[in-house]
Amino acid sequence: MINTLKMNDSYEIPQLGIGAYLLPDGEECYNTVRTALDLGYRHIDTAEAYLNERTVGRAIRESGIEREEIFLTTKLWVQDYGYEQALKAIDLMMQRLDIGYIDLLLLHRPVGDNIGAYKALEEVQRQGLVHSIGICNHTRPQLEALLDATDVVPAVNQMECHPLQQQVELRPFLEKKGILLESWFPLAHGSKRIRFNETLLALAEKYGRTLQQIVLRWHMQEGFITFPKSTNPDHMKANMEVFDFALEEEDMDKIRALNANRYLGGDPESEENFKKWSETRFEF
Ligand SMILES: NC(=O)c1ccc[n+]([C@@H]2O[C@H](COP(=O)([O-])OP(=O)(O)OC[C@H]3O[C@@H](n4cnc5c(N)ncnc54)[C@H](OP(=O)(O)O)[C@@H]3O)[C@@H](O)[C@H]2O)c1
Repeated sequence: MINTLKMNDSYEIPQLGIGAYLLPDGEECYNTVRTALDLGYRHIDTAEAYLNERTVGRAIRESGIEREEIFLTTKLWVQDYGYEQALKAIDLMMQRLDIGYIDLLLLHRPVGDNIGAYKALEEVQRQGLVHSIGICNHTRPQLEALLDATDVVPAVNQMECHPLQQQVELRPFLEKKGILLESWFPLAHGSKRIRFNETLLALAEKYGRTLQQIVLRWHMQEGFITFPKSTNPDHMKANMEVFDFALEEEDMDKIRALNANRYLGGDPESEENFKKWSETRFEF
């Protein structure tokens, strides 16, 4: 049974879901989402920029599962920032998904007019089109600027987070503001740096679990929300089986000690990355 957490707006979110990044639109995405739902996943994380919202929406509609039982997150890409542009883009996003409402709508990157875009998120939340709103990849100064200029405290901040990048500096601030941390790249995107890590391998041996289950259990015990991506049904099934055991505190500490503040998916404070993200455009 997947645990749920309560967000600052009182909506519940399943603590573990499935990520839809790099799932090409069409059959692969459809089959992955349907398999995940059949296995018992009830939380799917997608984005405009993953170019698969239509298929994710269709898989949800055709699953036969009540809409209210499924938690769907999507994200607004930077080309749709600014208040008016964001409202138009959200309308199109709702048409692409075609699932009635969005559970959680996030800003994907803190570039350009993210404040105007966030105000549009506040507006669609007021209208009831979207239940919860939040952000991704906002560092503390970027988040502080957003909090100063807007009314609704984000429900979550989705950040790269795994044993090598534990967001130790940001976390106390998020906690103080009542913002939950969502971990992206929870398995470090399958990096060898995690897969062959001796501490994690030893813990896998000790608990009789896979290394990935140890890492996911660590995310759960830290109170993070996460959505590992897998197209392999055996992996999907194993990734859910992390609620029937617990890591001892000394083992949590061993994983905490692996933190290297290392970004594998792009340092959010790098000017070069900032420029790259600002200039990336998609056809949705
Ligand atoms: N907000 C953002 O800016 C942002 C950025 C990046 C990602 N995300 C979100 O985070 C999600 C997860 O990130 P990610 O997909 O890049 O990385 P990830 O979940 O950390 O890792 C995915 C990789 O791990 C492998 N894997 C998964 N479960 C496994 C298992 N039990 N045993 C062995 N290998 C396993 C997968 O391969 P198999 O398919 O073979 O299992 C895949 O290669 C994304 O899908 C997306 O929803 C958000």
